[in-house]
Amino acid sequence: MVEIGACEGSIACSTCHVIVQPEFYEKLPEPTEEEEDMLDLAFGLTETSRLGCQVIMKKDIDGLVVKLPSATRNIQRLGTPKTE
Ligand code: FES
Repeated sequence: MVEIGACEGSIACSTCHVIVQPEFYEKLPEPTEEEEDMLDLAFGLTETSRLGCQVIMKKDIDGLVVKLPSATRNIQRLGTPKTE
């Protein structure tokens, strides 16, 4: 699987879904409501799921380990079809 971050961090997709090891998950700030809403659409959601693009690396999570879900759901529209 390729982690693509389709919306480039604007919380408009769930292609950056990662599963964080519990010991690191506890050190992360709470997800925003926007992030939780998008996570609800992620494939294979777990109790330690986060959107990878919303995880800001800091010294206290140095060594962070995440797993990728077995699949991802990309519902981003890549363009508008021409109507002519
Ligand atoms: Fe789309 Fe993270 S890249 S929400």
